[in-house]
Amino acid sequence: MSRLPVTRRMRQLRVAAFLPALLVALAHPAAGGQAGTLDIPTPYLPSTQVAVEEMLRLAEVGPHDVVVDLGSGDGRIVVTAAAQLGARGFGVDIDEKLVALANENARRAGVAERARFYHRDIFATDIREATVVTLYLLSSLVNRLKPKLLAELKPGTRIVAHDYGIDGWKPERTVTISKTYYLYIVPAQVAGKWRLDATLPGGERTFDVELSQQLQEIRGGARVTGGFLPFFEARLAGDRIRFAIVDEHHSHHFDGRVTGSLMEGTVASGIGRAKAENRWRATRVLRVAEEG
Ligand SMILES: C[S@@+](CC[C@H](N)C(=O)[O-])C[C@H]1O[C@@H](n2cnc3c(N)ncnc32)[C@H](O)[C@@H]1O
Repeated sequence: MSRLPVTRRMRQLRVAAFLPALLVALAHPAAGGQAGTLDIPTPYLPSTQVAVEEMLRLAEVGPHDVVVDLGSGDGRIVVTAAAQLGARGFGVDIDEKLVALANENARRAGVAERARFYHRDIFATDIREATVVTLYLLSSLVNRLKPKLLAELKPGTRIVAHDYGIDGWKPERTVTISKTYYLYIVPAQVAGKWRLDATLPGGERTFDVELSQQLQEIRGGARVTGGFLPFFEARLAGDRIRFAIVDEHHSHHFDGRVTGSLMEGTVASGIGRAKAENRWRATRVLRVAEEG
């Protein structure tokens, strides 16, 4: 073997080893880069098979899911979701050759009907059908995608980001196994005013509720004659909302689902033999833009 090909191969290996560190430095100011000033295009760097499996595990992908990989490379995430977990889905990529390879990989795995790939820019892609979105993209692109993800995805949709998380959005879970993966759950939009009717042990009650929201974090309470009952332990996970109010000597634990301008569920008061469970329902009176 001549010296030249060996030297070139070594140089290629050095570049390949250096590339992820370079991308981190460019994308993260803490690592010496200048996020916000640089918007370098996301290059092709496939997830390892370990990363593919951890992303799908973190999103708890199953047969009812529609998995969408934005920047799908050779298609390995959607093909694995279809072949191993019975899901369906699609991927998009700006590299036409990778799209052809991904469709060929789906065909070889016998899942071409359930895993399709399109030559398309992420921002021109309709993602409303997704129940799971996977991202392995540089920070700048992930952050530019944030408004689209929040505007188009249904409450409860899981987003798993590999290596580069979404700025200003606290992940539901962060897992590090060889690489780091962030799980986000798209929250329902609840900020605004609601009229809440509930059956409590003392009788029928109506509350004027005010909620403020920053992604999945909510605060608020109920206006009552002569006062305000704050919501304690308020939680929003996708379309599931929970909170408790304290009225005179008892706490009342509300648990429900949000569907557009309606919330409904059950409210539990008391414990043990004194426990009462009743229904509640709230309709939106005023929608306000969420904070931040
Ligand atoms: C780091 S690779 C990840 C590939 C695959 N998701 C995986 O995890 O193996 C990022 C991919 O995003 C694609 N990409 C970058 N910008 C894009 C855009 N604006 N629209 C569509 N694809 C894009 C690149 O061509 C590349 O294939």
